[in-house]
Amino acid sequence: MAPRFAPKEQVVLDTPKDTPFTLQELRQYDGVQNPSIYVAVKGTVFDVTKNSKVYGPGGSYAVFAGKDGSRGLAKSSLKPEHAVPDTDGLDEGEFTVLDDWFSYFSQRYNIMGKIVPEGEAKI
Ligand code: HEM
Repeated sequence: MAPRFAPKEQVVLDTPKDTPFTLQELRQYDGVQNPSIYVAVKGTVFDVTKNSKVYGPGGSYAVFAGKDGSRGLAKSSLKPEHAVPDTDGLDEGEFTVLDDWFSYFSQRYNIMGKIVPEGEAKI
């Protein structure tokens, strides 16, 4: 479901970071290989560690941990094959849902960086 956008309690966020991550590098931030859990939405990497109950191993939304799952968010799908950044062929309504999720994450989670093509990471 698409939960409310604005958080119940105000969330104070850090200044966004702009560390580059390849999708491959992002994968380790799954709460297992690395205790931090990052989720990317539309190429922006968010630190969701504070919600590890949900995104950590066995959590309802663990499928998104360490990934850019934009397609799954857009399609309201938890299928692992949809937890990918590819937005090709989404309809207008799905793009709107994806934008709403971007807003949801932006209001709750610190930005750690952005997804870059393979070969461009490592500052
Ligand atoms: C029976 C179906 C579902 C129920 C009852 C449900 C319920 C919920 C509830 C209660 C929340 C917390 C809302 C809040 O804190 O404001 C939530 C958050 C969320 N849901 Fe669902 N959901 C369902 C299906 C899905 C599906 C199919 C997706 C796939 C995109 C999804 C993705 C998410 C995400 C990403 C969050 C945000 C977690 C966070 O706070 O970071 N949900 N859901």
